[in-house]
Amino acid sequence: MGSHPQYDVFADEYLEHARDGFHNAHYDRPACLELLGDVAGRRVLDAACGPGLYAEELVARGAHVTGLDNSPRMIELCRHRVPSGEFRVHDLADRLDWLPDGSVDLVLFALALEYVDDRTSVLRELRRVLRPDGALVLSRQHPTGDWLRHGGSYFDVRVIEEVWSKGWRVRYWLAPLERTCEELREAGFLIERLVEPRPTARAAEVDPARYERLTREPTGFLAIRAVPDPRG
Ligand SMILES: C[S@@+](CC[C@H](N)C(=O)[O-])C[C@H]1O[C@@H](n2cnc3c(N)ncnc32)[C@H](O)[C@@H]1O
Repeated sequence: MGSHPQYDVFADEYLEHARDGFHNAHYDRPACLELLGDVAGRRVLDAACGPGLYAEELVARGAHVTGLDNSPRMIELCRHRVPSGEFRVHDLADRLDWLPDGSVDLVLFALALEYVDDRTSVLRELRRVLRPDGALVLSRQHPTGDWLRHGGSYFDVRVIEEVWSKGWRVRYWLAPLERTCEELREAGFLIERLVEPRPTARAAEVDPARYERLTREPTGFLAIRAVPDPRG
């Protein structure tokens, strides 16, 4: 993927789309927020925070949020949206040398693993900044859906390019579920829960057809809660 912040040109449109849109507001965010649990008083690192929609909700729930994203426009949107958060432009390919070891209680890494080239190194760095009793919550596209859309071998790890319905051109990694589990293990995490979310009940009113499909098909997202492996 390299260091180009591909979301920068459509950051404002992403905010419009993700604020109340089906996939983010009624499907991904409820699942990850549930996996994060009670965040009141906790220090949360929102890695690849986008325009701050998670950060806004986390702050409303009493968390202290630090966010990073490699898109400068996303970070501007965050600062505007969540004045009490701390946000910085940072590419996850680089070390988080501004965060000490064990300095956050929770790491959220929602819908961005796909954009990272060396996923194990990034996950290892996220583990370093997590307290030993902390947790990482991540979500990614469901690999079954990726495979159904792109065909070929489900097991290949490869970069693809898509043009989404809004005209956004995105490049990202396809990888089977096993690969994500292995990357977490190599980075020193133990998977505590793996969730294949269903849309919320409210989502049925927002888009009945999509609701019906995603309550039946593994073609949306999945979410994982992982904890630092005490063995190292
Ligand atoms: C699908 S959006 C998800 C945003 C947010 N987590 C959410 O769920 O609303 C993916 C985000 O990952 C960011 N991103 C992609 N590659 C990145 C990288 N290498 N380092 C930091 N952020 C990255 C993009 O700029 C974008 O904001």
